[in-house]
Amino acid sequence: MSVILQLNSELNLNSQNVVEFNYKLINFKELSIEYPSLKSFFADYEENIYNFNDQNSLIELSKILLKKFFSINISLSLNFLIPRIPIRFLYVKYINEILFSYHFDNVSSLFLADSTGTEKTETVGIDIGTGSSLIYPLLFISAYNNHNNHNNNSEDDYKLDYKIIATEINNYSFEFAMDNLKSNKHLGSNLEDKINIVKISKNDDPLIDFDKFKLIKNINNIENIKFLMCNPPFYSNNYSISRFNNTNIDNKEETLKKTIGLKSELYYKENGELDFIQKLIKESLVHKNKICWYTCLISKFKLISNVILIIKENNISNYLIHELNPSNDFYNQNSPISNDNKSYNRGKRFVLLWSFNYIRLPNYLSSNNKLILKKYCSNNNEFKVDLKSFIKDDPIEKNNMELIKNCLISGLDYSNVKDLKLNNIFDSFIIKFDENVWSRSYKRRLKFNKINENDNMKKKRKVINEDEIIIIQIIYDHLNSHLYLFWKYGKYYKTFESFTGYTLRQLNNLIEK
Ligand SMILES: C[S@@+](CC[C@H](N)C(=O)[O-])C[C@H]1O[C@@H](n2cnc3c(N)ncnc32)[C@H](O)[C@@H]1O
Repeated sequence: MSVILQLNSELNLNSQNVVEFNYKLINFKELSIEYPSLKSFFADYEENIYNFNDQNSLIELSKILLKKFFSINISLSLNFLIPRIPIRFLYVKYINEILFSYHFDNVSSLFLADSTGTEKTETVGIDIGTGSSLIYPLLFISAYNNHNNHNNNSEDDYKLDYKIIATEINNYSFEFAMDNLKSNKHLGSNLEDKINIVKISKNDDPLIDFDKFKLIKNINNIENIKFLMCNPPFYSNNYSISRFNNTNIDNKEETLKKTIGLKSELYYKENGELDFIQKLIKESLVHKNKICWYTCLISKFKLISNVILIIKENNISNYLIHELNPSNDFYNQNSPISNDNKSYNRGKRFVLLWSFNYIRLPNYLSSNNKLILKKYCSNNNEFKVDLKSFIKDDPIEKNNMELIKNCLISGLDYSNVKDLKLNNIFDSFIIKFDENVWSRSYKRRLKFNKINENDNMKKKRKVINEDEIIIIQIIYDHLNSHLYLFWKYGKYYKTFESFTGYTLRQLNNLIEK
């Protein structure tokens, strides 16, 4: 387990304890005793096999899961895309964890008291193409804003107060989403302040339309959006379009037995979701830091390399891919299991995340640990040193954090250092450097400046280049004698990498003494 994840759970700060479920964990027979309407949708009741091949049975299941686990009342129709709840919730939970991860880890509050931090008062997100179900906004509010679901304990101190701006282009989906908003007023006295649904007029309109968002009254700072999420229309307009030829798809009254959604819900231009994601990426280049984290679902593993190509072509350096795996093979039961790239999908979805700020997320929030996905993540943000390999008999002793700290930073020019006592096992400090001050070139420059110091040079040295700043957290695990370096903030990976090399050299010096 990642040391950060371990720490979170030890400090009881993990949002994961809100609710955890997937279809495999559900005992359908038991659920049908509580919700008898489910009984008629079994493929085989005696064998406890639910029918995942029928649209009506999927609708009933999604409605009941939302009711049972999230107190959400939702209307779903055969005309629209039916949301599978486990994967939808995984996406919402992932975003909550991203925001949560730097809400409490002190980097933002200690060093970056600017727009990148999250405030308890308002965490605004955007859901592009919310669909008729309004699924993501309702899940956010129910799972994370609804304080009544939880005891008044310290956990609440770490809850974020979400407000979601949801956009939708399709008239019928928009109306349906409005109805679903009205049916869920019990989720909060002022739900219509928390969820705003914005109607998008035309396909060529911007996906991220700040002119429209600015008209929303109850948002304090519209240029300080914490995240954007999107489940794009998947298919290319050229693909199996014949399925729709004889049917008036955009007619709300029409029941579509064979299809699983409106044409406009599922289809987009020549390359489907790739075109949609490309448009989103292009627009993000205009808005940059008005939105802290841009995210988007990718439905197929094989699309990831194309998406990353677009990211790289646009010189975006802070990005990652994260796998969402609901361990759900129910609706793929008959497809052969294989380990090749093609079938890596099997019920999974992938999140592309990118940002124009320099905050670096812990590895557990990317799929850096998965060989097949590692190459699609921009960096490895963590570095582990086994101190036992430096000192055989006497690994650096308990309470020796000061020793390590001195070994690493004494004599260096740093602008801030904060100690963080985590618990009995972990000690930690966070340090901010204005540039790579451990490098030979910096030391040489410093020496030269001292010799030739004049007023002009003094002034020059005070100018800080934001792009050079780097923040690193160092955690010392007493129990296992491990030292962890976490890259928390910075533009250049090579600066972090260089600090890891410097750390190893300093530790070697410590041992030799
Ligand atoms: C795949 S569905 C996702 C629906 C829902 N978010 C979910 O995950 O179940 C894509 C949605 O995006 C909407 N959409 C397509 N183009 C859009 C645009 N330009 N602006 C806003 N919504 C759009 C579609 O009408 C559809 O509801």
